[in-house]
Amino acid sequence: SARVVVLISGTGSNMAALLDAAADHLYGAEVVAVGSDRDAPGLALAERAGVATFTVRFADHPDRARWDAALSERIAAFSPDLVVSAGFMRLLGPAVLDRHTVINTHPALLPAFPGTHAVRDALAYGVRITGATVHFVDSGVDTGPVIDQVAVPVLPGDDAASLHERIKTVERRMLVDVVGRLAREGWTVEDRHVRLGSVEPGPSPSP
Ligand code: GAR
Repeated sequence: SARVVVLISGTGSNMAALLDAAADHLYGAEVVAVGSDRDAPGLALAERAGVATFTVRFADHPDRARWDAALSERIAAFSPDLVVSAGFMRLLGPAVLDRHTVINTHPALLPAFPGTHAVRDALAYGVRITGATVHFVDSGVDTGPVIDQVAVPVLPGDDAASLHERIKTVERRMLVDVVGRLAREGWTVEDRHVRLGSVEPGPSPSP
């Protein structure tokens, strides 16, 4: 099955959902390690589940490039087929991205509300519908090819916490579905369009 390294900075509820799903061998992916940039509460959860963990602190490195290189090395030690950024709150650099295939889950309907405060920003803007996006990670901020999205209504009286909880409920189901499908079916990306499965490309247009 596909080897997955999950990167977290927080609670790790998305990571926990992946661990649960991967307990079924038919899922097609196994979480071989969970990494973080800080003492994330989710690390203890991974340890209890018997999964290897590692921490690569930003402040322990002289600059961004060396932090990025160190993180890439720690990830590479687990030979992952896929890296899943699930609430990892730092931008990944070229050392990680050139060496690994990385997907990210984001709590908004990209390209709306990229960045660190997506839920707060959507609420402040006054949108009636927001959601979550799983996408491939490129060098931009939440700009990579979209793999899947799910819509979530903003309800009267919502604050950032209640809205984020409603998003996370559907976000983790989508993430579990996407990781399983990527692992079992493979994918192709052409002009930003992600296609799951090893389907033959369509007929090329006649000249
Ligand atoms: C998730 O909602 C994820 O989309 C978001 O942080 C939460 C992590 O929750 N990520 C970002 O905002 C990245 N910009 P979790 O730690 O419980 O999985």
